[in-house]
Amino acid sequence: MPVYACICAAVTTSQVEATILAGARTVSDIGERCYAGTGCGGCVNRLQELIEETEPSSDRVKELPRSA
Ligand code: FES
Repeated sequence: MPVYACICAAVTTSQVEATILAGARTVSDIGERCYAGTGCGGCVNRLQELIEETEPSSDRVKELPRSA
């Protein structure tokens, strides 16, 4: 059974995570790409949490060794 991150747009948590991994970095980005968060707004805090949990950390990128 799918877990919905946004009931209004019937968008699942997995779909939101895929949207973030595809480049969405703000709640507004997510709304433009998959319509989550564009209805009642009740899921906006959850979408923000998903961004923080899912997006690649810029700190980790800095730690990667650079190839010459
Ligand atoms: S539950 Fe996402 S906008 Fe209403």
